Amino acid sequence: MIVVGVDGSVAARAAVEWAANDAFRAHEPLRIVHAVDRTPYQVRRFPEEDLPDALKRQGRRILDEALALAHERQPGVEATTHDIEGSPAAVLRDQAQDASEIVVGSRGLGGFRGALLGSVSMHVAGHVTCPVVVVRAEHRPVRGQVAVGLDDSPQSEPALDYAFRQAWVRGATLRAVHAWQLPVHAFAPQIPYDMDDVRAAQHRAVVDRLEAYKQRYPEVKIVEDVQSAHPVDALTEASEEADLLVVGSHGRGGLTSMLLGSVSRGALHHAECAVAVVRGT
Ligand SMILES: Nc1ncnc2c1ncn2[C@@H]1O[C@H](COP(=O)(O)OP(=O)(O)O)[C@@H](O)[C@H]1O
Ligand SMILES: [Mg+2]
Repeated sequence: MIVVGVDGSVAARAAVEWAANDAFRAHEPLRIVHAVDRTPYQVRRFPEEDLPDALKRQGRRILDEALALAHERQPGVEATTHDIEGSPAAVLRDQAQDASEIVVGSRGLGGFRGALLGSVSMHVAGHVTCPVVVVRAEHRPVRGQVAVGLDDSPQSEPALDYAFRQAWVRGATLRAVHAWQLPVHAFAPQIPYDMDDVRAAQHRAVVDRLEAYKQRYPEVKIVEDVQSAHPVDALTEASEEADLLVVGSHGRGGLTSMLLGSVSRGALHHAECAVAVVRGT
């Protein structure tokens, strides 16, 4: 089952279209969820039969509109709608528990104007164990490319799995992006490196890593994009030509107590295409 969160925003509509297409390709049902959040209104909670209030009605309208859109895009997909009381972040987190994937918009109705990523999307991407796809509002032409960010840690393996599967069902090219950087030394800038050796070794490591996938997905065309750059820059650039950018939730660096690694966060904020965050087990 694929879950999509809707709040009536343009980005959430794009999320519905994305989720309906993914559900179609994965042969899975679609669950459209709207969280009815009363906390900002400080309204006492009346039982539904006593007071079918404006928030609830508005929620129904949002869900009806989303359902019509899903049907229009993918008439063959079985879709249901659900309005659930609670904060959007908590409701979606809960809904994701038995989902194979959750899709949200990058922005919603609230938030400040300059924000690149809404708080609900950020929360879901940081807390949910299934893959989270964050979809942008802008409509872009289909590029036929899925990009995936690889580091040298086993944590990027689930992302690689997801990316190959997506490339395969979409008939898209897979661009495997590995950005590497030499450590910055404050006191020993003279440590000698043979840059050509380093470059060759980095490339070799990526080719080896992809070998097993080449066997499993012989139809998927692979582009190895190994470069000396900051990973967020390399991924942002790759996102310009991709329909989907896939990243893991953590890499080798950073604290595991953090909800998302710095590269995943950077990708979520700056990518031009949809971003899937795939957490390891
Ligand atoms: N009440 C809600 N019910 C379900 N999904 C929601 C709700 N609010 C937000 N979302 C989901 O989260 C996405 C991002 O919204 P949000 O993080 O709230 O951004 P903003 O801060 O701009 O409002 C939306 O596009 C939608 O997919
Ligand atoms: Mg919001």
